[in-house]
Amino acid sequence: MSAILSVDGVSVQFGALKAVQEVSFQAMAGAITAVIGPNGAGKSTLFNLVSGAIRPSAGTVRFDGRDVTGLPPDRMLDAGLSRSFQITNLFFELPVRENLRLAAQYLEQGHGLLRPLSRSARAAQRVEELLAQFELARKADELAGFLSHGEQRRLEIAVALASRPRMLLLDEPTQGMSHADTRDTEVLIRRLAREDGLSILLVEHDVDLVMDLSDHVVVMHQGQKLAEGAPAAVRANAAVQAAYFGEAH
Ligand SMILES: Nc1ncnc2c1ncn2[C@@H]1O[C@H](COP(=O)(O)OP(=O)(O)OP(=O)(O)O)[C@@H](O)[C@H]1O
Ligand SMILES: [Mg+2]
Repeated sequence: MSAILSVDGVSVQFGALKAVQEVSFQAMAGAITAVIGPNGAGKSTLFNLVSGAIRPSAGTVRFDGRDVTGLPPDRMLDAGLSRSFQITNLFFELPVRENLRLAAQYLEQGHGLLRPLSRSARAAQRVEELLAQFELARKADELAGFLSHGEQRRLEIAVALASRPRMLLLDEPTQGMSHADTRDTEVLIRRLAREDGLSILLVEHDVDLVMDLSDHVVVMHQGQKLAEGAPAAVRANAAVQAAYFGEAH
C-alpha cells in the first residue's frame, strides 16, 4: 500500500495556545485511518488543517503526491479530498434528492449554472446511485430536516461522496447517534473502504468503534502526536493508556 495523504510537521496556534504542534502522519490508500485523543487534544484542529478549513503556520499536507497545504475546501474537493462536517451541512428545507443533486452537480458541471443536458443527466444518475447505495430511496422526496438523526448523518456522507472523491474525511461521524445507528455507520464506513476502495480519515471519540474499524490509529494529546500504529499496539501503549484511556474510563 502507498500513502495517499502525507501530513508533515503541521502546526497551528490560537493566540498562545499551540493547538497542533509539528504533527506528522500518513494515511494509506484504501485504508481507514483514525485520529483519537481526549477532549481538546487537537483532533478537530488537525482535521481542519488537513481539509483546508485552517491554514497551518508550518508544515505541509500532500494529497496524492500533490501539495495541497492550505487550499480552500472547494479546491480540495477538486483534488479528490472531501469532508463531512461535524456540524451538519445539509439543506434541511430541501428534499433529500435535492440535497444530493446539488452536491452531484458540483462534480458534473464544473460549478457553472449553464449546464449541458448530458451533464445534468449524469448528475441525476449519480443521485439515483447514491439514494440506492445509502438506502435513502424511500426518503428521496422528504425534506432533509424531517429525517432521523441517523438518516441525516447518512445523507451527509452521501453528499460528501457525490463528487466521487478518492478520500473522505469524517469528523465524529457517530456523534449523537443511537447504538444501532452507530453500528450501521460502522458497517457503512467499512464497506466504503473495503468494497469501494475509498481512503478514509476519521476523527472519533468512540474508542471501541475506532479499534474495530481502523487499520491505523493516530493518538493526539495536548496538540502533539502521542503515538500511532495498529489498533492493538496503540491500545497496549502505556502512554496512551495514561493519557487517553485513563481519562476516558
Ligand atoms: N478557533 C479556535 N480559536 C481558539 N482556540 C481554539 C480554536 N479551535 C480550537 N481551539 C482550542 O484548541 C484546542 C484543541 O481543540 P480541538 O477542537 O482541536 O480539540 P479536539 O481534540 O477536537 O476536542 P474534542 O474532543 O472536544 O472535539 C482546545 O484547547 C480548543 O479550545
Ligand atoms: Mg473535536
